[in-house]
Amino acid sequence: SLPTGTHVLTDPQAVAREAAERLIVACGENQSERIAICLSGGSTPKVLYGLLAGPDYATRVPWERVHWFFGDDRVVPWDDERSNVRMVREAFGHGAPIPPTHLHFIPSDEGAEAGARAYERTLLDFYGAGRLDPARPLFDLVLLGLGEDGHTASLFPGKPAVGETERLVAPVPEAGLAPFVPRITLTFPALASSRHVLFLVTGAGKRAPLARLAAGEDLPAGRVTSAGEIAWLLDAAAAG
Ligand code: 6PG
Repeated sequence: SLPTGTHVLTDPQAVAREAAERLIVACGENQSERIAICLSGGSTPKVLYGLLAGPDYATRVPWERVHWFFGDDRVVPWDDERSNVRMVREAFGHGAPIPPTHLHFIPSDEGAEAGARAYERTLLDFYGAGRLDPARPLFDLVLLGLGEDGHTASLFPGKPAVGETERLVAPVPEAGLAPFVPRITLTFPALASSRHVLFLVTGAGKRAPLARLAAGEDLPAGRVTSAGEIAWLLDAAAAG
């Protein structure tokens, strides 16, 4: 069976709309000055980011309070086509009034190891403590995708970052899948510090990893935990 918390929607647009609604709800649950949302990379979430910046949602997102983080990135210049920074900038476009200091990009200019250390400091500085307290999750919402090999963020099967239990951010010198450039990824302990996790999975290419997860295979995407609920939004093509 598919993971609990699986919802099948008609198409990628419907998945993005459902994700946008859930993002608004997650923001509404946190009435403090600062909301933390962790964005996923790849191509699937582009529809969601465009929707948030568009007429239906731009007035509903509390932009002044939201801080945007990243689950992973490729160690390439930010204007490179493979960069998640570039993807997010293009997908949000000009419609998203994000205060510049609220976009917390993963640094890529000093390599994977230095970038991972710097980003862990960014997370902890924002959090305001030297370590994460399970009773007080860092993220209000974590968005994730599913790779065709079962990876999520840049936690690839069989790579050392999957076994990381201390660091919040890990270097990934060797990616498990294209683009084959080093990555920097949040680790399972960082993703677990969340009130909601939302996987967005669309397209027929995701049937194989979903079937493997459903069969109980131990893949990184299936190992994600959270202080709150984990939901999977699939489109009909992915659900098969
Ligand atoms: C990345 C990701 C990665 C992604 C999956 C799915 O930057 O590569 O964060 O984990 O979510 O690989 O990617 P697609 O949405 O492109 O299928």
